[in-house]
Amino acid sequence: MKVTVVGAGAVGASCAEYVAIKDFASEVVILDIKEGFAEGKAMDLMQTASLNGFDTKITGSTNDYSKTANSDVCVITSGIPRKPGMTREELIGINAGIVKSVSASLIEHSPNTIIIVVSNPMDTMTYLVHKTTSLSKNRIIGMGGALDSARFKYRLAEALGAPISDVDGMVIGGHSDKGMVPLIGKAVRNSVSVSEFLSEERMDQVVQDTKVGGATLTGLLGTSAWYAPGAAVSAMVQAIACDTKKIFPCSALLDGEFGLNDLSIGVPCVLGANGIEKIVEISLSDAEKAKLAESAEGVKKTNGLLEL
Ligand code: LAC
Repeated sequence: MKVTVVGAGAVGASCAEYVAIKDFASEVVILDIKEGFAEGKAMDLMQTASLNGFDTKITGSTNDYSKTANSDVCVITSGIPRKPGMTREELIGINAGIVKSVSASLIEHSPNTIIIVVSNPMDTMTYLVHKTTSLSKNRIIGMGGALDSARFKYRLAEALGAPISDVDGMVIGGHSDKGMVPLIGKAVRNSVSVSEFLSEERMDQVVQDTKVGGATLTGLLGTSAWYAPGAAVSAMVQAIACDTKKIFPCSALLDGEFGLNDLSIGVPCVLGANGIEKIVEISLSDAEKAKLAESAEGVKKTNGLLEL
């Protein structure tokens, strides 16, 4: 199992670190355009191997895509991150050009790879890869829902005063402050609906805190978050590498599912060796359907800014 991570910034390096620590991949290649940067991150990470107990070989390269040849999974984190006060959508101009050329270079050297897109605005960048490459749709996946769901579970556990391992919940829809749809009606504490424990008002607060999860961190850190995004991608890479068939909400190209067409947006997906092996059309309440439809409109509006 060979994994490439493009972008040696904080998200890319965290992803490489978590993939290595879980020790399921034989090789991780990190690529960056900044001279020596990926090589440095790779060497630093390799010097943690004896301490953290992994045998994954991590190498870095300054933009030499031949080093990524025959990767099973490629993660694209390149592009500019948001600054405090910016929306993910404002990054489209610069990031679209980067994601388009990065995905073309990756596919040139790994024609059967699976691509996971992290760069923002993520749903639109995922759609761009679908539109500009010939990879089959199950092999192009956007990372957003796994992260947003992890943030949702964090907020649920906080509100419930419960350990995180006792709660479960999922966020679908677009990976944006307005577009996320935390499925609070389906969230549970050890199989019991969270509505048994929390007031309407507290549940609304959990939903609101989840939706601005990334923006809250950008305000605190001065740039986009990296630990949870890196962990979320590494969990998706692991599901593909180990063919686990676990369900993650992922940005998937829709063709009629949930009544939506011609966009990539967060929906529950079974991940395995073939990437998205199934889109799971869970039943949604009328309110959830309306929120997903509204979220899709927002994603389509951003997609309309692409020069395809
Ligand atoms: C975030 C970025 C990765 O939500 O979109 O932190």
